[in-house]
Amino acid sequence: MNNLDKYWDKIHLKYNSTYDEWLNKYINLFNQNDTIVELGCGRAYCSNYLFKNKFKDITACDFSKEVLKIINKENPNLKTMMFDMSLGLPFKDSSINVVIADLCLHYFNNTTTNYIIDEIYRVLKPNGYLIARVNSANDKLHIPIDAKELEKNLFYDGQIYKKFFNQTDLNTLFKKFKICYMQEKNMSRYEKPKILWEFCLKK
Ligand SMILES: C[S@@+](CC[C@H](N)C(=O)[O-])C[C@H]1O[C@@H](n2cnc3c(N)ncnc32)[C@H](O)[C@@H]1O
Repeated sequence: MNNLDKYWDKIHLKYNSTYDEWLNKYINLFNQNDTIVELGCGRAYCSNYLFKNKFKDITACDFSKEVLKIINKENPNLKTMMFDMSLGLPFKDSSINVVIADLCLHYFNNTTTNYIIDEIYRVLKPNGYLIARVNSANDKLHIPIDAKELEKNLFYDGQIYKKFFNQTDLNTLFKKFKICYMQEKNMSRYEKPKILWEFCLKK
């Protein structure tokens, strides 16, 4: 695990953010009993939003013990799971209706990213959705300054990877999925404005 969970523990103990309503437009696609998994949930803004909207089977997942402690305290009724998604997803084939992944799929090298996307595809039911946001290659304000650019738009600072995607990268990465929605957007949830890709894909 490379102690990356501890790296994220420290970040979660220091920073907080808010839910910026990006998921609202998708919830009409879901049924109240759908099995929904949020990967890299952090403070579980998305899971808590779905929970408040009466979705019954939501699991907020992260590998940071500290953030899971915080969200369990804030909402003891929200189901949580602790695992490192780079080692695979602990769910059966074709068992999940919706996977949500907000700003958590861009912290891996290309091999691991491909593996995680294959895993998401494996666990989704036919017609299941992956709804996610990732760094855009146009997000110049969040490029890490002390990191080495290993290849175009993939940075590594000796501990953590940060990948910035362009449209071609996404088309290649998600070639097995049907694209329902994909758009580059601005987000103002962080201190500096952020440019990201938001997408809704169907298995
Ligand atoms: C930038 S934060 C986003 C958190 C949340 N989705 C949000 O948008 O507020 C990235 C999250 O991914 C989690 N994460 C990073 N690498 C992970 C891994 N290998 N397995 C599980 N979670 C991971 C971190 O702990 C963190 O909560």
